[in-house]
Amino acid sequence: MSYNGSDFYDNDTNFENYMQRRQGQENANDTLEKPVIWQLLGDVSDQLVLDLGCGDAGFGVELLEKGCASYVGIEGSRNMVKAASNNLAGCNGTVVHTRLEDFTYPRDSYDLVLSRLAIHYLQDIEPVFQCIYQSLKPSGRFVFSVEHPVITSTLQPSGTRTNWVVDNYFIEGYREQQWLGGTVHKYHRTVEDYFRAMQKAGFIVEQLRESSPVREHFINEETYERRRRIPLFLFLAGRKSA
Ligand SMILES: C[S@@+](CC[C@H](N)C(=O)[O-])C[C@H]1O[C@@H](n2cnc3c(N)ncnc32)[C@H](O)[C@@H]1O
Repeated sequence: MSYNGSDFYDNDTNFENYMQRRQGQENANDTLEKPVIWQLLGDVSDQLVLDLGCGDAGFGVELLEKGCASYVGIEGSRNMVKAASNNLAGCNGTVVHTRLEDFTYPRDSYDLVLSRLAIHYLQDIEPVFQCIYQSLKPSGRFVFSVEHPVITSTLQPSGTRTNWVVDNYFIEGYREQQWLGGTVHKYHRTVEDYFRAMQKAGFIVEQLRESSPVREHFINEETYERRRRIPLFLFLAGRKSA
């Protein structure tokens, strides 16, 4: 059975496998993705934050500890919502159980909308980016990460790789992947597609980053060298006009 982005995590085995990998030593999220996200976010103090595809909202807790004024996570998976509710208990944070495509985005409400590794699950990003734009206050920011298009072009089974295939790069759309013991579907877009979708929604695109590894984030030299071979993540940051 092939699952969409949220349903994949509602299969208990997939959920447990994901959480185990997410918390593993030198996992790519912590060594490659999160450091760039923090660089792009900068100071979050006093900001009203919306996090799309928030997972267990562990990052929401960190944002609140760094002084953001409030945190709302949007999440489509029941398992993740349960984990997020537990993590956010007692904090000025909430989680809403809905798909990103179905959420009613309030207008002019947030200083920062962020999304970490969820947008490659969306079939159509343009309407969602438009909603994000409208939900930001003037000068508000949108920062997101996705699996890098050189990876999503030709999805290969998860596991430690020694070679990669990049093929069908300019054929956008549906892909299936054998991942963590299950089958999940994702959507491939080129770097240019993401960039243009931001501009089309009205954003001034301010930064584009890839997950270039930094030695100090790794314990093992071997893992660091392996991460220098291919980019795993793509990041874009944009701003709503003042
Ligand atoms: C790879 S996880 C990342 C979770 C979290 N952002 C993090 O970085 O730890 C992707 C998350 O996006 C959620 N997701 C995927 N597609 C979604 C959709 N259409 N609507 C809402 N959530 C979605 C999944 O349920 C999952 O929790």
